[in-house]
Amino acid sequence: MARIKMVAGNWKMNKTLQEGVALATELKNDVKNPNCAVVIGTPFIHLATVAELLKDSAIKVAAENCADKEKGAYTGEVSAAMVASTGAEYCILGHSERRAYYHEDYAVLAEKVKLALANNLKVIFCIGEVKEEREAGKQNEVVKAQLEGSVFNLTAEEWKNITLAYEPVWAIGTGLTATPEQAQEIHAYIRSLVAEKYDAQVADDTTILYGGSCNEKNAAELFSCPDIDGGLIGGAALVAEKFEAIIAAR
Ligand code: PGA
Repeated sequence: MARIKMVAGNWKMNKTLQEGVALATELKNDVKNPNCAVVIGTPFIHLATVAELLKDSAIKVAAENCADKEKGAYTGEVSAAMVASTGAEYCILGHSERRAYYHEDYAVLAEKVKLALANNLKVIFCIGEVKEEREAGKQNEVVKAQLEGSVFNLTAEEWKNITLAYEPVWAIGTGLTATPEQAQEIHAYIRSLVAEKYDAQVADDTTILYGGSCNEKNAAELFSCPDIDGGLIGGAALVAEKFEAIIAAR
């Protein structure tokens, strides 16, 4: 099984429902036979509408988060079962913004991953170091701890539904992209950790995306690296032509 190449968008807290529908409609009309899997991560309130809109298209839909509890008295939360009931097929978890601003730690993320998988969602699990950790040369340690803390408890069978996204926090939304060399080096390291934990075949089949100021100008060079299987795109996913150019670069 050759590993899946993918370009995924992460809209974050952008776009009203109407704006989101307009963007999804544009993508649906333009992205007919992509060379890779295409996923868009939207706010919860968009999911049902956008999933319905895209149901016969080449584009899959992801939530950007889900609750760490199954159901019940958790005001304002959205469960993995609710996400799945919209027709969304993926859930982005472990994004650095969730870790930093909403204090999601390894244990909470492990629960979220477990619940997402139990509800048949595929998970795009994000890892990556902050600037100080990169400057101190600790990036390998950081991503290893993030994987061990939240996803290396999964069975090899469960792992088939995990896509990893390496996103150096210093590159997210900053215009400071990791160089292809920096990204390739750590992607290869991450793949070696998966091989150590599972086996070489599992590692070879694992899709590892790069995220962090990936755009229509630098995508082709990043994607040409052997261990970079695609991208998780924030800002450039909010404009159809830019996102489509990134898909075309994959
Ligand atoms: P960016 O965001 O492309 O705007 O840097 C990427 C992400 O946070 O997933």
